[in-house]
Amino acid sequence: MTTVAAQFVRLSADDFRDRLREALAIYVEAMRYPPSTAEQRAPMWLTHALREGWRGVAALDAGGRMLGIAYGYRGNPGQWWHEQVRRGLVKRSGEAAAEAWLGDYFELTEIHVRPGNQGAGIGEVLLRQLLEGVPDRHVLLSTPEGPTRAWRLYRRLGFVDVLRDYHFAGDPRPFAILGRTLPLEPPGTPGGQDPRPATFPG
Ligand SMILES: CC(C)(COP(=O)(O)OP(=O)(O)OC[C@H]1O[C@@H](n2cnc3c(N)ncnc32)[C@H](O)[C@@H]1OP(=O)(O)O)[C@@H](O)C(=O)NCCC(=O)NCCS
Repeated sequence: MTTVAAQFVRLSADDFRDRLREALAIYVEAMRYPPSTAEQRAPMWLTHALREGWRGVAALDAGGRMLGIAYGYRGNPGQWWHEQVRRGLVKRSGEAAAEAWLGDYFELTEIHVRPGNQGAGIGEVLLRQLLEGVPDRHVLLSTPEGPTRAWRLYRRLGFVDVLRDYHFAGDPRPFAILGRTLPLEPPGTPGGQDPRPATFPG
């Protein structure tokens, strides 16, 4: 990958707490949510930072302003997202499939780039740096169904379908759960592609 005009830094949980407002502002802007969503989400993001295996990465411009944020943690039984995905997977594919994906995984919880800085490769570097050295067997994520830039990124990096058109409790939007084994292949090497046809080709 060619260079992008950003530097990438690992965040400690303390760094993340200190820069929570900035990170949430990127989130609401990138997801086109109303600004009030930031306040609603803040306690949840702080709770996430206490979880086993939490790690975060930020992209910063030359002045230290945050351009992008990604974080995740080890998925474990009892977590809301884990239980929701497990419920869907067991129903559609059975216990064995659920255990195969959910037995040992890292949840990619959030990845967002400031809209004015999207489409320059920042998201891919964030994702790669976040997953670098993650000890878990799989990485899993959920994303709204639809042909988005996020989909292109995930497909390009070899994420495959785990569960499609899934409805989380309390959210009317259909989501896809995507996953792949770790580690990722290095940039520019073969093997990072989805072996099955992508529903939303990039
Ligand atoms: C999804 C998201 C994080 C991806 O980040 P990004 O920086 O925009 O995207 P990428 O790193 O994949 O950038 C790759 C794009 O930049 C282009 N690009 C330009 N220069 C590049 C470079 N040096 N290296 C790589 N790609 C480059 C690529 O052609 C590619 O374009 P395409 O997506 O139109 O095919 C970001 O678009 C975003 O925040 N979206 C809204 C929020 C969201 O959907 N979050 C995920 C929810 S699950």
